[in-house]
Amino acid sequence: MLDNLSSGKKEYLNPKAKFYKIDICSPAIDKIFKQEKFDYVFHLAAQIDVRKSVADPEFDNKVNAMGSFNVFKNCGLNKVKKVIFISTGGALYGDCSKPATEQTLIQPVSPYAIHKYSAERYLELCGELYGLDYIVLRLANIYGPRQYKGGECGVIGVFTSNIIRGLTSVLYGDGSKTRDFVYVADVADACLKAMAVKQTGVFNIGSGREISMAQIINAVKKAAGRKFVYKKEKDRPGEVQRSVLNSAKAGKILGWRPGMKLEPGIKRTIDWAISKNK
Ligand SMILES: NC(=O)c1ccc[n+]([C@@H]2O[C@H](COP(=O)([O-])OP(=O)(O)OC[C@H]3O[C@@H](n4cnc5c(N)ncnc54)[C@H](O)[C@@H]3O)[C@@H](O)[C@H]2O)c1
Repeated sequence: MLDNLSSGKKEYLNPKAKFYKIDICSPAIDKIFKQEKFDYVFHLAAQIDVRKSVADPEFDNKVNAMGSFNVFKNCGLNKVKKVIFISTGGALYGDCSKPATEQTLIQPVSPYAIHKYSAERYLELCGELYGLDYIVLRLANIYGPRQYKGGECGVIGVFTSNIIRGLTSVLYGDGSKTRDFVYVADVADACLKAMAVKQTGVFNIGSGREISMAQIINAVKKAAGRKFVYKKEKDRPGEVQRSVLNSAKAGKILGWRPGMKLEPGIKRTIDWAISKNK
């Protein structure tokens, strides 16, 4: 396990895992790859904040594009059997009036999306250069226990944390903006299924349900059984308005389907947050 702990937490690491605190941009990761001789690599490390990518695109490029290339190159040089790269569906396809398939035109509206897509292309290149097998999983918005990191995280994580602490949430826009939400355990399942199949390629991983921010507020309020206090603010740059993914290809080839429905998933997330006081 390689992570620089910039947003990750060591307490969530499986105690059986061997851990290296290192930046994926560091040339020194080559020594770890040579020493450990990994069979499979799951590449999730990223700068994930869309607004930070707008404010500092150079940094986002360094981590999400070039850092990813550093990982893929080392996978190729060290004969890794397969790489599973976690990309983004929501940000890559831009505004969707119907569920986006893997063939939908790529229309990135933020540096984050541009650099995640660059990483996909670097992976494809490493596939050609080194004969590296890979799968790209383009994820919808992830949510679930352990997401809250004390500030910047997904909307369900922020709303959940605020409601149980009695804090005021901010709704950016008028509540009509939509997203597709996928539960964290379903994402882990997709990663394992991607590792197990022989196929390579790109797969969307989402629920196929287009959910508005207003619906999220209602679901969080209902699951928590508490008052949800929020104020409205103007929407921020780099945000798409409508986002939903078609994951039929993952269903057919990976045998993956979302197991968790949104409402019980939010309830589990809230129960976890209450138990940990997060
Ligand atoms: N959260 C979502 O809704 C969502 C949606 C689509 C795709 N993704 C992708 O899923 C992956 C995981 O995101 P997450 O939501 O769990 O975020 P996260 O911030 O919890 O995880 C990112 C991890 O990468 C580590 N990291 C960051 N920069 C690093 C660097 N330079 N070197 C080494 N480690 C570094 C962080 O410490 C953290 O552990 C990312 O690749 C992200 O782009 C997330």
